[in-house]
Amino acid sequence: MTDNPQNRYGGSSSSLFNNSSRTSLFDKDTNSGSSSFTSASLQQSGQAIRAVLNKTQQGNQAQFTPSSYPGITSLAIASQQAGYDSVAARNPNIKPSSQDNLAVQSRTVSDAQYKRFAKYIEEQSGIVLGDSKHYLVNSRLSSLLLRFKVPSIDELINRAMQPNLYKDISSAVIDAMTTNETLWFRDTYPYLALKNMILPELARAGKSPVRIWSAACSSGQEPYSIAMIVQEQVSNMVHVDPSQCQIIGTDISPEMLDRCRFAHYDNHALARGLSAERKAKFFKPTQDPNVMRVDDKIKQMVNFKQMNLLGSYSLLGRFDVIFCRNVLIYFSNDVKSQILNKFAQVLNPGGYLILGSSESIQGLTDCYEMVRCNPGLAYRLKS
Ligand SMILES: C[S@@+](CC[C@H](N)C(=O)[O-])C[C@H]1O[C@@H](n2cnc3c(N)ncnc32)[C@H](O)[C@@H]1O
Repeated sequence: MTDNPQNRYGGSSSSLFNNSSRTSLFDKDTNSGSSSFTSASLQQSGQAIRAVLNKTQQGNQAQFTPSSYPGITSLAIASQQAGYDSVAARNPNIKPSSQDNLAVQSRTVSDAQYKRFAKYIEEQSGIVLGDSKHYLVNSRLSSLLLRFKVPSIDELINRAMQPNLYKDISSAVIDAMTTNETLWFRDTYPYLALKNMILPELARAGKSPVRIWSAACSSGQEPYSIAMIVQEQVSNMVHVDPSQCQIIGTDISPEMLDRCRFAHYDNHALARGLSAERKAKFFKPTQDPNVMRVDDKIKQMVNFKQMNLLGSYSLLGRFDVIFCRNVLIYFSNDVKSQILNKFAQVLNPGGYLILGSSESIQGLTDCYEMVRCNPGLAYRLKS
């Protein structure tokens, strides 16, 4: 994690470009390369690509193929080439054979390496790339070449697959392949269900402490939204005492967890899902007028921990509610099923599981019963 504040402000809506390693493709010094593109045109190409890829991310499984955006692709390759040149200028050992095939040699994953990498990523994180996401691998790993001074994506992948020798590269590569799209109070209905149904039920049962897990919490919007709901439901006649509520946020990405703990969000991130009233109530200004920090009252309700959903959950303890939203979509049915069954083992009797709006348990587990919340639904652990 770099200390550049621009990389830290929770704007994971377009994670591909919101951190240092991922923006460098478009931020490089064009003087050091031989590209004829100006800084302005590279910036424009970056914006265009950002727009397309953001759309891709929001559709999660949507397709983006270079042939569907030929103009953007050629600009991107030119951008990449200029980026490679700046590495080459600093490293005399990197001797590209010709300008024309430079981008292909340095920033394009080979078919054989793509297959090995897809298998490796699925084993390490559960994320299924499929047969034809070469463009995604190229775009997400390109900027790591500069950071780790590696001459090609194939070589970067070779190193990533040797975590004992290249721990940092390995971790950064997995991190780069995650999609961190998130926002405050995403989809609204889970938070209404929490406020109007689940927390009152736990309060009536006298549950203390109440434990809530935000599994795959990205840059923190989900667990902090949960904490805000716990504060707000204090005005309900029957409510859970916030001081008796423990919220745990976990994610595979160390960089996202740094952002969570920092709890500073820029205007772009704050504009996504947060009402003016909640912003005034739960955030404090910072010295930067474009950035606000989460109020300590909310911040202290949440603890963060790095955790891979493919691993064991036994050290986390038991929970009354698990939010696991918009991550299972990236996994195979086998992995989804294993995770859903592992959640069942750490839920308290009658505990709730809340999935993303496009996710379901159908055909994957029989540990839960569906509960309609009007709007939306939750899954309750069967007794
Ligand atoms: C799209 S975000 C979802 C964030 C939030 N739950 C929401 O719905 O807004 C998916 C998150 O899952 C995390 N992730 C991906 N694979 C994971 C794994 N195997 N274990 C834990 N977290 C993982 C990513 O790092 C990313 O932050």
